[in-house]
Amino acid sequence: MTTTNHTLLEVRNLTKEFPLRKGFFNRTQGSIKAVSDVSFTINRGETLGLVGESGSGKTTIGRSLLRAIEPSSGKVLFHMDEGQTVDVTSLGMNELRTFRRNMQMIFQDPYSSLNPRMTVRDIIAEPLVVNGTSNRTEIDAQVRDIALRCKLNIEHLRRFPHAFSGGQRQRIGIARALALNPAFIVCDEAVFALDVSVQAGVINLLQDLQVELNLAYLFIAHDLSIVEHISDRVAVLYLGRLVELAATPKLFANPFHPYTEALLSAIPEADPDQPMRPVALAGEIPNPANPPSGCYFHPRCRYAEEICKTTTPEWKEYQPGHFAACHFAGELALKGVENVKEGEA
Ligand SMILES: Nc1ncnc2c1ncn2[C@@H]1O[C@H](COP(=O)(O)OP(=O)(O)OP(=O)(O)O)[C@@H](O)[C@H]1O
Ligand code: SF4
Ligand SMILES: [Mg+2]
Repeated sequence: MTTTNHTLLEVRNLTKEFPLRKGFFNRTQGSIKAVSDVSFTINRGETLGLVGESGSGKTTIGRSLLRAIEPSSGKVLFHMDEGQTVDVTSLGMNELRTFRRNMQMIFQDPYSSLNPRMTVRDIIAEPLVVNGTSNRTEIDAQVRDIALRCKLNIEHLRRFPHAFSGGQRQRIGIARALALNPAFIVCDEAVFALDVSVQAGVINLLQDLQVELNLAYLFIAHDLSIVEHISDRVAVLYLGRLVELAATPKLFANPFHPYTEALLSAIPEADPDQPMRPVALAGEIPNPANPPSGCYFHPRCRYAEEICKTTTPEWKEYQPGHFAACHFAGELALKGVENVKEGEA
């Protein structure tokens, strides 16, 4: 994998298995490989979109990067501004606690992720206090600054979360994530629970903050239109394996993987009145505890040949920056979407 001076995060062969428990005694019987051998990089100030059906392992990747859950194997390397590289996967618990200021997560549900008994001021201040800032005036100044950046009304900082709307609560969640000045944020379905009319405001805020603070995002979402809008590059996940990764305009206009083609075909027409629709694909996603042989996508792939049933396709860079895992990548005439972002195709 190529890294440059701009690389912030480097993920190498990340794998996460969960034990599968069954029966009356809840005994471990085998395991689910939720994430298999996933490798990618994220640059400073970049948004990498991560898409795939429900259960494909998006959250597991996001949480493993921050070690909110422990990866089973693989490496997560964080390249600091000063040129130093930190192996996040090998940090001890104390070191990890200190290092976590560099990487934060914004959750899907702003209702359950904010403590209802704390004021907004205290919610935003908590990470500062936990990390050793004790001067009240300094904390208040920082909370004020972050709240203003997140376009929260600073007159309302003494209120409790229930007094705020969904969009405002998500802004509070973002403000809290920003308190320690991280370089990387995992946004896991960060606008999913919000009304369509409110989503745009939160997306714009994330984009403004990205420019102001040079933030990198892993942006996990079901909604491909939002992913296209916000992402510089997009990674596509199927049953825990990456199947394609490319610059957003390339991936949308000229996909190399049949699964990406299928996902793109399900994007609803650009109509602001249309509610978000789930991805429509033939057949169910297979059980990750018992994945198909060869290419995991073969039972659902209309281009499948004999080799696909027996041989796992290699993850390869077919064009500069355009990765895919398909025996016929680049050879199939796959259909993308037409109205790719202006001037970027
Ligand atoms: N703690 C856990 N224990 C056992 N299995 C788990 C656990 N967390 C996730 N899984 C399994 O790992 C797989 C990936 O789950 P994950 O939540 O990462 O998917 P996702 O892509 O985020 O899905 P969604 O779009 O629904 O949020 C699923 O099969 C899920 O059931
Ligand atoms: S390897 Fe075969 S089954 Fe898998 S996506 Fe490519 S054509 Fe389809
Ligand atoms: Mg998820």
